[in-house]
Amino acid sequence: MTVPAWRPMAEVDIDAVERIAALIHPSFHERPEIFVERLALFPAGSLIADDRGEPVGYAVAHPWRLGKPPALDSLLGAIPSEADCLYLHDVAILPRARGRQLTERLVQRLRDLAAALDLGRLALTSVNSTAAMWARYGFATVAPDAALAAKLATYGEDAVYMETP
Ligand SMILES: CC(C)(COP(=O)(O)OP(=O)(O)OC[C@H]1O[C@@H](n2cnc3c(N)ncnc32)[C@H](O)[C@@H]1OP(=O)(O)O)[C@@H](O)C(=O)NCCC(=O)NCCS
Repeated sequence: MTVPAWRPMAEVDIDAVERIAALIHPSFHERPEIFVERLALFPAGSLIADDRGEPVGYAVAHPWRLGKPPALDSLLGAIPSEADCLYLHDVAILPRARGRQLTERLVQRLRDLAAALDLGRLALTSVNSTAAMWARYGFATVAPDAALAAKLATYGEDAVYMETP
């Protein structure tokens, strides 16, 4: 069994990212420019899970504001100068590459990146009933205020906003 590894994403990977997103996230469609913009704004946060040269997953993270996840399919415009967390926008792994600690290794990589940038905390919006998995990797659910609840609703009924302490 091979062990896929995370590597930096390049613009040439965007087609593969779109293919994987269409397969894994059919109900969370985002335009290709969403991935292109995040890659351009914060290259260190866009990653490919690579299995012997073949993309089998991707992750997108960027500095952001705690408690204010961007709406689905929305451009960021810029990385905020007052960013106080590293926000994991999306991670998707093809079924055949799962079970090989890719998410665990991703969280460690993002923790190291956040520490290096003095951002401290990680945040994400959990969907697909993954909150228990994220809790195992150190994330805790944040009770949403009305504005956050409205934002979460764009991600579906089971969306949960989570942060590391
Ligand atoms: C979530 C995802 C990235 C995890 O992939 P992975 O790193 O290979 O993780 P694994 O499949 O090894 O799962 C790790 C653990 O979390 C659990 N888990 C994974 N997805 C889960 C889910 N949707 N609900 C509950 N538990 C889940 C697994 O059972 C596993 O537990 P175990 O170690 O006791 O066996 C992958 O399942 C995926 O791409 N899912 C679809 C997209 C998605 O939901 N992304 C996250 C959005 S917030």
